[in-house]
Amino acid sequence: MYNSVNKSLDLDSNAVREQLLPHCRLQSGEIWHDEQNGHIVACGDATDNDLTYRLVESGTKPKLAVHDPPYNLVAFERRPVDEYIAWCRKWINISYDILDNDAALYVWLGADQRDHFQPLPQFMSMMADTGFESRSFVTMRNQRGYGTQKNWMAVRQELLYYTKGAPSFDVQYTDIPKAVRGYYKDVGGERTENIERSRSDCIRAGNVWIDVQQVFYRMEENVDGCLAQKPLKAIERIVQASSQPGDTVIDFFAHAGTTLLACERLGRRCLTMDIDPIFAEITIRRLEHFRTTGGAGCSGRTGWQREHPFECPADVHICR
Ligand SMILES: C[S@@+](CC[C@H](N)C(=O)[O-])C[C@H]1O[C@@H](n2cnc3c(N)ncnc32)[C@H](O)[C@@H]1O
Repeated sequence: MYNSVNKSLDLDSNAVREQLLPHCRLQSGEIWHDEQNGHIVACGDATDNDLTYRLVESGTKPKLAVHDPPYNLVAFERRPVDEYIAWCRKWINISYDILDNDAALYVWLGADQRDHFQPLPQFMSMMADTGFESRSFVTMRNQRGYGTQKNWMAVRQELLYYTKGAPSFDVQYTDIPKAVRGYYKDVGGERTENIERSRSDCIRAGNVWIDVQQVFYRMEENVDGCLAQKPLKAIERIVQASSQPGDTVIDFFAHAGTTLLACERLGRRCLTMDIDPIFAEITIRRLEHFRTTGGAGCSGRTGWQREHPFECPADVHICR
């Protein structure tokens, strides 16, 4: 399935798309089943009831949804905010219906500082009249930002956490060592200091994440042409906090297939889709690339760094 084509996948020109489309396994409305671990990838619209229900019809109900829609900002299509929110409501309602009675929902979203921070406040208001309960408003800090000369550098990415019913939540720790000491408490008649009482030498992941490296072209996990790719570390943190091994996870906006790869590495089953056949294909290829370069047992490759998914992988090594 590998095909050597123009490396400038991220130029997003029609010429590049025309070259790639014949190499995509899925057309709109089609579904790919992974024989090995039961993941499913579909190509189509997140608001298509028929397709989304076909995606989840087999197996156990999803315990977790990790959605990263287009933000109604510069990338992808920009529409009037009411229209955008009406569109969000549809895939949110579908998610509510197909999730387990006790489940978690995470949605990545942007806020346009040049336009009254749309669509974040409108999205939050819309969520207030769904069955989901609000739980946390996480901000992840990017290393690179924009607009530094006449404004505060824009470095934030917003992540909203909601629940349906009462799902489990496992506390996650960062790689940042605890620096603050000296908080004493009596435990069983003995005076203890906070470090002694801690479950980890590192600080907990709170609702501000400063320890996640933004994906860029020098990183192994980079998938060329996927400009909206989320860091695997961030998605794995969510998957570990809000699901258990063997659980099913959904993601309606696959893009570089990060949620699928996180699920493969952490022993969850992922049901995912993308409206664009090229991103649906990249999602499948990323999983295959991870497996053919070693998989979970021997540090399979998580991306292509500066190569791209449609190029012949001359450097593939098979784990033996
Ligand atoms: C922000 S990206 C997701 C990034 C992803 N979390 C990752 O780490 O690679 C949004 C994706 O949604 C897809 N998309 C846009 N509209 C869609 C729709 N109506 N249904 C399904 N996917 C859609 C785009 O093609 C794009 O790949």
